Amino acid sequence: MIQIKSVLISDEIDQECVDILENNGVVVTVKTNMAKDVLLKEVEKHDALIVRSATRVTKEVIEAGKQLKLIGRAGTGVDNIDLPVANEHGVIVMNTPAGNSRSACELTCTMVMSLARHVPQAHASMKAGKWARKDFMGQEVFGKTLAIIGLGRIGREVATRMQAFGMKTIGFDPLVSVEEAATCGIEWLPLDKIWPLADYITLHVPLIPATENLINKTTLQQCKRGVYVINVARGGIIEETDLLAALNDSHCAGAAFDVYIEEPPKDRSLIDHPKVICTPHLGASTNEAQQRVAREIAENIVALNAGVGLYGA
Ligand code: NAD
Ligand code: MLT
Repeated sequence: MIQIKSVLISDEIDQECVDILENNGVVVTVKTNMAKDVLLKEVEKHDALIVRSATRVTKEVIEAGKQLKLIGRAGTGVDNIDLPVANEHGVIVMNTPAGNSRSACELTCTMVMSLARHVPQAHASMKAGKWARKDFMGQEVFGKTLAIIGLGRIGREVATRMQAFGMKTIGFDPLVSVEEAATCGIEWLPLDKIWPLADYITLHVPLIPATENLINKTTLQQCKRGVYVINVARGGIIEETDLLAALNDSHCAGAAFDVYIEEPPKDRSLIDHPKVICTPHLGASTNEAQQRVAREIAENIVALNAGVGLYGA
């Protein structure tokens, strides 16, 4: 039976995680923003490593973790963890996939409304001392079509919220049937039918080979002139150069990003574009979501130690 006696937390995680583990006899070390060599030395001493998205759990880190039995991801995406290497070394990888869905959904809906009404741009303009009412003519989302790519936890929550604003929701997911999508009020359509219908496209897929650069020159060309694109999922799902070209020739009316190929992004061409609104990977950054994921990851480790692991121990 796996026993986790010592845990290293290397990213900012709610205190509740520490409290639950310590109250159950687990020794916890919190060290964030470690340089690579410091992390490699520190990980060696622990049975488990808990991260958010900042720590890159590479082959080197996993191999340095001589007694490492578990990597806990307080969040959804595990793309910062080298899964094949963890598997090869028999290290369990555990995430908390549902804990931050509502928060990511709410940020997505905020992005849709902000694009429609130019809220960030108008705010910046007023703060700069202007009163430029004519510059920020918006549009109602009522009656517009929202295309949701990826009908999992977040995609479905976005659909029901935006339906309340009167949006028509269409979507695509290879693992979701037409009937299942319809239970959430979403009309399931293949991608080639989606592009010409969408007024707004929001992405809620993992970054995998099938979704890498899903939004590109070819797909954008099939979209309506004036389409809006929102990415609160993962950087790399949009081909950024192609989107930039579409924004420059006004084929794409605007885009919203919470996630980037490189975080923080060194290439500023999209960030600085006047039609782009952006946040620094804040999808899960709410008190509620952070408490849920912290609690969940800690409780899973405690359950694993008790031999009643939620992950099949
Ligand atoms: P989920 O697993 O519940 O849903 C993802 C869906 O994508 C699945 O239903 C899957 O079948 C579908 N999918 C896979 N390949 C596809 C394809 N080629 N085309 C269309 N659909 C496809 O995941 P989720 O919890 O809804 O999370 C969605 C994304 O949001 C993930 O990338 C996750 O990492 C990200 N996320 C970001 C934040 C943030 O802070 N910005 C927070 C939470 C989650
Ligand atoms: C996630 O996948 O859960 C998100 O990237 C949010 C995060 O943990 O910061």
